[in-house]
Amino acid sequence: GDAITVSDLAQKLALKGGDVVKALFKMGVMATITQTIDHDTAVLVTEELGHKAVHADAGDAESELLAHVEQVQGDQQQRPPVVTIMGHVDHGKTSLLDYIRRTKVASGEAGGITQHIGAYHVDTPKGTISFLDTPGHAAFTHMRQRGAKLTDIVILVVAADDGVMPQTVEAIQHAKSAKVPLIVAINKIDKSDADPLRVKNELLSHDVVAEDFGGDTQMVELSARTGQGVDDLLDAISLQAEVLDLKAVFEGRASGVVIESALDKGRGPVATVLVQQGTLNKGDYLVCGIQYGRVRALFDETGSQVAQAGPSIPVQVLGLSGVPEAGDDFVVVADERLAKDVAQQRDAKRRELRLVASAGNRMEDIMAQM
Ligand code: GTP
Ligand code: MG
Repeated sequence: GDAITVSDLAQKLALKGGDVVKALFKMGVMATITQTIDHDTAVLVTEELGHKAVHADAGDAESELLAHVEQVQGDQQQRPPVVTIMGHVDHGKTSLLDYIRRTKVASGEAGGITQHIGAYHVDTPKGTISFLDTPGHAAFTHMRQRGAKLTDIVILVVAADDGVMPQTVEAIQHAKSAKVPLIVAINKIDKSDADPLRVKNELLSHDVVAEDFGGDTQMVELSARTGQGVDDLLDAISLQAEVLDLKAVFEGRASGVVIESALDKGRGPVATVLVQQGTLNKGDYLVCGIQYGRVRALFDETGSQVAQAGPSIPVQVLGLSGVPEAGDDFVVVADERLAKDVAQQRDAKRRELRLVASAGNRMEDIMAQM
């Protein structure tokens, strides 16, 4: 965006120069009417003065990006469900996922999981399902806020020997506020003190009512240790997915969300992303939060290189300029120039906003001392 003098801005707003100077002062920005303020400060002060700032800047990279994203249209096709496993500590979330992976992933892929990755897809006889092992992730809090956007179904694991516990309740509330349907997996039914009926009763008081209690929540009794009932859970997921009628455009440029990210000593920035629309290919240019880059390599959750990833498929991306934040959106763009422009504009915007904010804080300190 362009910078503007205070007097020019005042003229645009049909205000006296002094009024804009005063408003700027309140924001902690000291400027005379002949001085130039940057675009973001101009927007902030305009809004401070009760006016709406309209971005008329045609060269703005962000609006170019938006036009770009809107171009990606096509036939909606059925996509795999994205399923998040939640529940109280030690109730068997990871064990359940381990069981599903061992039994359902093609045998060649099963042993080769060398890296911690929070998301993976599993081919079941009922189709592909993507799982997120979110609890424990640094990304989790951020993802909770974006839950509805990311997750189609929540699997609530409740140990039959322990019952409803604080994090069970927390998970229910999250699923409800995100308006994501819940399937309850009553786990550890192999244990002698397992009491699935007690679990169903306890869930009643949190308005989670089993179908056999006259409610509409699917509940599956299972054991992650023996595998008993796990197929029923997969059936329940595909049934719920059918009801949700999940669709996405498969052709065209990919977009999606960062699930987790890290700086790898040897490989540089690594982002695990969930593709939500389109298909991500090796060689694509992308913007990812304030980072950009060209996809140097894509890896699936077993560490195998893949050429591409479509909707609902989690994939590790190498080739970004820096480490993006969990929860950042990513978008594939036509060329490096646009990717770089958008990333740099976003970065500059974040810095300027921070500058204005810290300037404001300092002013408050000074005022407090007066
Ligand atoms: P956090 O990630 O720490 O919240 O735990 P979790 O929910 O992932 O539990 P995890 O899978 O680590 O299992 C906790 C313990 O319960 C482990 O000792 C498992 O072996 C045991 N466990 C999990 N599922 C079952 C089951 O179905 N039956 C029995 N008997 N034990 C189980
Ligand atoms: Mg776990």
